[in-house]
Amino acid sequence: MSTTRFLTGITTTGTPHLGNYVGSIRPSVAASRTPGVQSFYFLADYHALIKCEDPARIQRSTLEIAASWLAAGLDPERVTFYRQSDIPETTELTWLLTCVTGKGLLNRAHAYKAAQDKNAAAGREPDDGVTAGLFMYPVLMGADILIFNAHKVPVGRDQIQHIEMARDMAASFNHLYGEHFTLPEAAIDEHVATLPGLDGRKMSKSYDNTIPLFSSREQLRKLIGGILTDSRAPGEPKEVEGSALFQIYQAFATPAETEALRKHYAEGIAWGDAKQMLFERIDRDVAPLRARYEDLIAHPEKIEQTLLAGAERARQIATPFVRTLRAAVGLRSLAQGATAPKAAKASKAALPSFKQYREADGQFYFKFVAADGRLLLQSTGFAAPKDAGQAIARLQQQGEGALSGQLAPVEGVLPQDVAAALQQLAEAANS
Ligand code: TRP
Repeated sequence: MSTTRFLTGITTTGTPHLGNYVGSIRPSVAASRTPGVQSFYFLADYHALIKCEDPARIQRSTLEIAASWLAAGLDPERVTFYRQSDIPETTELTWLLTCVTGKGLLNRAHAYKAAQDKNAAAGREPDDGVTAGLFMYPVLMGADILIFNAHKVPVGRDQIQHIEMARDMAASFNHLYGEHFTLPEAAIDEHVATLPGLDGRKMSKSYDNTIPLFSSREQLRKLIGGILTDSRAPGEPKEVEGSALFQIYQAFATPAETEALRKHYAEGIAWGDAKQMLFERIDRDVAPLRARYEDLIAHPEKIEQTLLAGAERARQIATPFVRTLRAAVGLRSLAQGATAPKAAKASKAALPSFKQYREADGQFYFKFVAADGRLLLQSTGFAAPKDAGQAIARLQQQGEGALSGQLAPVEGVLPQDVAAALQQLAEAANS
């Protein structure tokens, strides 16, 4: 049986909270123990530089996140656990990918567009305060994934677009230089809970409503005491629907424990008592981790060693792979005899193209992408790859009109742009 490679990165800008634990750390540690799976987990400290200019915070966050994952049971012998900036091959690959990535593709990144929209709303220049780092974020992330040819990338929904972009980069590179990259897929776990925070909104650092995963027992009790509830008095039945306290409890409890709390709600448990139950339940899981965490934090040199050992293992893959990629693009030793350049390859790069792919929903899709990476057409889902292929053929023979209902609208694209690109492709095929 061939192994499936899972890879995910954690940006080192914050302190892990219960939401990170339930949504990412706990399921990832569990998944890393599955047979037939090879996992790569890394601390995305290059990405952290994009949103954080405080060196002390980057370093502290790297330490805290590494210690949290190890305390939660991540086994660095089983999992390749490393720090992104210890893999210089990632930045080297970033450049190779940059050169095959349409600027138009990056223009469409949600994070970049959000920054532009915010500027527009405030009446500022569109790129005001936008660094090239923010713009290039998806390429660096693509390099993280492709350098290890990961199959599956467990991420939150907000990251799906980045995985699609990594696929596009991989496909463009493969198209130009041969099949070097696996096309990665996002892995979204439907069973993983999104934890509400103290105020009932999603637990997130940006809402300032988090409960740190590792605080002292007393701090944990105090923070849980601050979870928003309604004003129903002791003895009055309580609603589980919309109760942040109930949802957090459920994320830690067994089904039987959850049912017991549901019953207590119906019987009118006092909020203070419910909070005490929640506190005890979380602490039961967290206390053993907390002891390991404190020990690890007290010995940063051990964590450093673990990360360096992980990087060494990772580079056993990355170093020879980048050597192959360099040779593929023509960064070669002159001593090894130069072959005559192929003229046809170069013009191929400047053509629009169709990209077919499968989504997490199991359906098959295609996109029609301009030579500069700009999206021209986006299909809706097809049941089989053959259907998608036939739709592409019809499109090429009869034009966009032949596919009404099977195309999702693409903002800002004119029908004549599509027609011109189809024409260009047809001419290239006949030449
Ligand atoms: N962008 C991801 C996040 O903010 C972190 C990340 C960086 C990542 N590189 C990655 C995730 C590669 C998966 C794969 O959550």
